[in-house]
Amino acid sequence: MQRDGYRKSLWQDTTLSETSGVGELPFDILDVVVVGGGITGLSTALALRNAGLSCMVAEAKNIGFGTTGGTSAHINTVLELSYDRMISKFGEEDAKLVARGAVEACDRIRQLAELHAPKCNWSEQMAYLFAQDEKQAEELDKIVAGTQAVGLPASFVEQVPFPKAFVKAARFAGQAQFHPARYLQGLAAVFKEAGGVLMEDCRVLEVDPKEEALEVTTERGTVRARHLVYATHIPPGVSILHFRNAPYRSYVLAARLRLEAELPAGLVYDMEDPYHYYRTEDVDGDRLLIAGGCDHKTGHEEDTEERFRELESHVRGLFSLEAVTHQWSSQYFEPADGLPYIGKLPMADDRIYVATGFNGNGMTLGTLASIVLTDLITKKGSPYEKVFDPARVSVVAGFSNFVKEAVDVVGHLVAAPFPAKGMPELDELKPGDGRVVNHDGRSMAVHRDEAGTLHAVDPACSHIKCTVAWNGAERSWDCPCHGSRFNVDGEVLTAPSRKPLQRVDVG
Ligand code: FES
Repeated sequence: MQRDGYRKSLWQDTTLSETSGVGELPFDILDVVVVGGGITGLSTALALRNAGLSCMVAEAKNIGFGTTGGTSAHINTVLELSYDRMISKFGEEDAKLVARGAVEACDRIRQLAELHAPKCNWSEQMAYLFAQDEKQAEELDKIVAGTQAVGLPASFVEQVPFPKAFVKAARFAGQAQFHPARYLQGLAAVFKEAGGVLMEDCRVLEVDPKEEALEVTTERGTVRARHLVYATHIPPGVSILHFRNAPYRSYVLAARLRLEAELPAGLVYDMEDPYHYYRTEDVDGDRLLIAGGCDHKTGHEEDTEERFRELESHVRGLFSLEAVTHQWSSQYFEPADGLPYIGKLPMADDRIYVATGFNGNGMTLGTLASIVLTDLITKKGSPYEKVFDPARVSVVAGFSNFVKEAVDVVGHLVAAPFPAKGMPELDELKPGDGRVVNHDGRSMAVHRDEAGTLHAVDPACSHIKCTVAWNGAERSWDCPCHGSRFNVDGEVLTAPSRKPLQRVDVG
């Protein structure tokens, strides 16, 4: 299994078998084309197929290539936007509805894991959140009260299965964890068995709405469909949703401890900003600690390797590590008002749907999206339709974030063709490094690989021209504006951009 980064995640390294998703494109008009083979895409495709619809998944690379292959795989009913804040932004009724959706999604994952992916190590877990000072304790009080107000279990506890002092701690029942790659493989296999079409290496290039059907042009040819779902983490092309979601990067490590007894029993979170998260995973007899955090806005960290050093040193301060076995990072999208966007793609053909803005809850919300989208397509309505409407204008709820993100984007627009004063020169690039440099009076995004070969591309993002930034940890060019990512030769790794960065000749 390949991923959209240079580093190998624990999940990639321990998949059970490669999925084969290559075949003939269907000739007849399909009910639905789902674009993207991550948890959102495969869960949606399987639900649609189970509802009797003909369905094809078009994945640009391979299943799990995007964030599902790089998640830390927490399954939560308690979401990043805490329920107390959700109540104050959206009201108690909507917050209760979101909580009900989160429970439904977690239940769906359990059922699918038991039925189709018994080797994905799904297990129910308690989650613990602990405060380390009075300010955090006050926040924790509100989080617990909000969680109880929407009808989910939350209580204060005296003990946390974690080696850190705290002033207050709470426990939340009904959370879970699993091995996301093995889960996806299970979904992919059963989807194909049920007659679904899975196409890997099948990037969707264009969608042309014709009266009879949507004409979907892919790298492997054209198919026609009555509906299309963008399950690409963020939709491709240019959409208002790109201005309502900000891309972030999170860092994860897996490690073997000297004393297994120290492993946390449950999902544990501190309340720092950015916060850290910890859990245990048993893979093929190996008991590993998984820890993550050190998040930052995409393209806003000059030395992404440093974040791994920071994370490792933080974890070494808590546990006695025998070995760090894996380190990886991945991207997520923070929605402006805190809730995901699931439903019809705004300002697009009525037959096109989207799911995005999952924050750090991609496993739960990607699955919830599959429930909402299946209802919207098959029943023309969903109880969650309004609260997740991608066209909602939550001026009060998301206004300050929206302005902040928009200003940030404008700050990165537009890539200048001429080098800024003080820009490094090409000669300053060390092997393994990447920078936007000045070369012969032109700015170029250049990576020098270990063999000394230069890989040079135009730094203007092919989406809407922000300047890309080097991500040394994952060896990619990442766009700070809307999160497009490209490999060292400019090939698209993740949407919204559909086109590669232009290659340039360094002479
Ligand atoms: Fe929008 Fe780069 S992702 S400009």
